[in-house]
Amino acid sequence: MISLVRDVPPQPTTRQPILAMRSVSRRFGSVQALDQVDFDIFPREIVAVVGDNAAGKSVLAKMIAGVYPPDSGVIYWDGVPTNIPNPSAAQDLGIATVFQELALCDNMTIVQNLFLGRELSRSLAIRDNYMEEVARNVFAELGAKMPPVRTPVAGLSAGQRQTTAIARAMLGSPRVVVMDEPTSSLSVTQTAEVLNLIERLRDLGYGIMFISHTMSDVQAVADRIVVMRHGRINGEGLMAEVTYEDIIAAITGVPNELTRATKARGPLPAPVELTTLNARLPLPDRLHTSQRQELLHDGTYDRR
Ligand SMILES: Nc1ncnc2c1ncn2[C@@H]1O[C@H](COP(=O)(O)OP(=O)(O)O)[C@@H](O)[C@H]1O
Ligand SMILES: [Mg+2]
Repeated sequence: MISLVRDVPPQPTTRQPILAMRSVSRRFGSVQALDQVDFDIFPREIVAVVGDNAAGKSVLAKMIAGVYPPDSGVIYWDGVPTNIPNPSAAQDLGIATVFQELALCDNMTIVQNLFLGRELSRSLAIRDNYMEEVARNVFAELGAKMPPVRTPVAGLSAGQRQTTAIARAMLGSPRVVVMDEPTSSLSVTQTAEVLNLIERLRDLGYGIMFISHTMSDVQAVADRIVVMRHGRINGEGLMAEVTYEDIIAAITGVPNELTRATKARGPLPAPVELTTLNARLPLPDRLHTSQRQELLHDGTYDRR
């Protein structure tokens, strides 16, 4: 049996963001898509990012994913200034992305989609059995009910497709998972399944950025909420401490307690670099860490 999840370590007493952005800006022609944005993703949290159309949510997500590097500002990873010049750099760092537009191949099976672009060496028989076992284990760990892993993706529901996309992202052994509107094309039942999945990932220790314009989804799962407006952070707080009315007001630009508190707080300080001492604090458990080691150890896994 291949175990995909390490034992859940005790939580560090100091909370250190995995990813921290400080004063990042990005312009497209005359559009200031991001304007001096401060943004954190902590381990074991779901941070929801909300805002009206064109607020800058997707650009922020794509900056983390290495699609649009900032014009100015600093991105910290474990407190260390880091460049994320392209998507493969993001992946190497430990950032997985699940975008709205699902990039799955309809004519291939679930398991083939999971391993697309992650070539395994060794004999075909070993490889296929191994990949299928890994695929089944991933879904089991995620608590997702899925049809047999040899089912072609064309036959899946939208929710099952999204689950496949999320499971695929998990195979990269990430620490941060960026989800841009993962529920926007799903039915109520499918949405509930994907929200359960997101909570499960949080409970495993991942830091999750959850972009959504559905307030009920955000209220159901988010630990923290960040409101964007015109490329700026217009409000930020713990979900338990903010009101629905204030969130809506922050989205639409009506000053309120949330926007005032965020403004009064001012820019966030730079994060503390993860020192040797800090590094000995338990890091978030990573799905597949043990699996990847095992794969590397027995030589059947080729990391490109
Ligand atoms: N590749 C691009 N080229 C030009 N403008 C862009 C590009 N990507 C985003 N924008 C602009 O940046 C702003 C923020 O977009 P986006 O982050 O997609 O908003 P949303 O909050 O709806 O996800 C919008 O005005 C959008 O038109
Ligand atoms: Mg968007």
